[in-house]
Amino acid sequence: MNINPSSSVSESISWVGKWTFVLAAAGSAVGLGNIWGFPYKAGTEGGSAFVLIYLGCILVVGLPIMMAEIMIGRRARKSPVNAMKIAAIDSGQSSKWQAVGWGGLVSGILILSFYSVIAGICLNYIGIAAMPNTSISSVEQFNLVTASAPRLLFWHTVFIGFNIAILAAGVIGGIERMVRLLMPTLFVLMIIMVINAMINGDFIRGLSFLFSPNFSDVDATTFLRAMGQAFFSLSLGMGSIMCYGSYMPKEENIFKTSLTVAGLDTLIAILAGLAIFPIIFAYGMEPEAGPGLVFISLLSVFVDMPFGNILGPAFFTLLSIAALSSAISLLEPSVAYFEEEKISLDAFLIKNKEATFYAKASGNSMINAGINDGDILVIDRSLPVTNNKIAICFVDGEFTVKRIAIQEDKILLLPENPNYKPIEISKENEFVVWGIVTYVIKKLT
Ligand code: PFF
Repeated sequence: MNINPSSSVSESISWVGKWTFVLAAAGSAVGLGNIWGFPYKAGTEGGSAFVLIYLGCILVVGLPIMMAEIMIGRRARKSPVNAMKIAAIDSGQSSKWQAVGWGGLVSGILILSFYSVIAGICLNYIGIAAMPNTSISSVEQFNLVTASAPRLLFWHTVFIGFNIAILAAGVIGGIERMVRLLMPTLFVLMIIMVINAMINGDFIRGLSFLFSPNFSDVDATTFLRAMGQAFFSLSLGMGSIMCYGSYMPKEENIFKTSLTVAGLDTLIAILAGLAIFPIIFAYGMEPEAGPGLVFISLLSVFVDMPFGNILGPAFFTLLSIAALSSAISLLEPSVAYFEEEKISLDAFLIKNKEATFYAKASGNSMINAGINDGDILVIDRSLPVTNNKIAICFVDGEFTVKRIAIQEDKILLLPENPNYKPIEISKENEFVVWGIVTYVIKKLT
């Protein structure tokens, strides 16, 4: 018997350009974690020792995990939940390992719950940096922003709105275009800010705070925090990179790609440190200021800097876009999972969705037509009733499946089993052709 294969059931999607994966993964990695998180954590954890341990974690732990995530994603070409399941089954393990993928979906949403609030503050700071209120200090300005729940809620909602709009339009094209423009511009702006820190900040002190090793305060929590920051900054452990890896073309080199992404990510974090700490020291601020550090220090920078009311909004706009490309990657594993095509015969069996029904056959009157007791019939109610069709008919209060024979003066309902008699329909019968049987689905014994 010949079978006619359909076109492949589910076509996988791929990034288009050679650089797209690098750009998308860098878009995910570079975000608030680099520019907001890294400096404030380096500040509260005492600087150089944290920075060096962080760099070590990126190289020794982050990079191999990034490669592993990309491999698992690319091999399965599925969302992290199913990619983990496939990886486990292929290596002879329980499919329950997909729980790791589920963990990723949940963590993504949990991270987004605070990430969107910080990103909302960035959006708010675009306007604040354009027209700073010089009668209050940058610390007071930050406190003003964070003390107002409606304000935080508003900007968080705006940020989430952008996410929804981009995800609804489809990640592949949107992210590619966004990141292509964002990355170089962000890089140039960071360089400008580092140059500014060289001129107007205490650059030597900033450098030594970040890089001259001082391991006196290091304890186990420093390692834990540095490792956490490395995972967070590289977007690891929650399926974002695995998900993007599932769109990566087979011919791309995973090692080189991961190295580029991790390199770019680290570079941006270091540049953020170099732009911020010299200013902190020159202005007599505290490096331990915590989550407000970037907003407080940079607003002071932009207020004093030539063209600060242009560069400031530009910086916070870029930071918001960087946060957006990361936030999208936090949601992408969930979106990919829920969009994943479930296996379905609908394309084969259903022409008119609204008019199609299933029914279970019972009895043996149609066995020669291939309909046996217990088979499932697919019925299309929109098809015209014509001679010789097998139909579900409603006769005197009962349903029956028969072949229709339309004759000049009567209608016969023909069985396909010599042990049964045709049913003749006359005017006295209550009779409706309910629908035409289009397919029979049967269990093979
Ligand atoms: N890497 C992003 C940042 O540094 O801002 C945050 C992030 C994105 C973390 C995606 C985790 C993730 F899956």
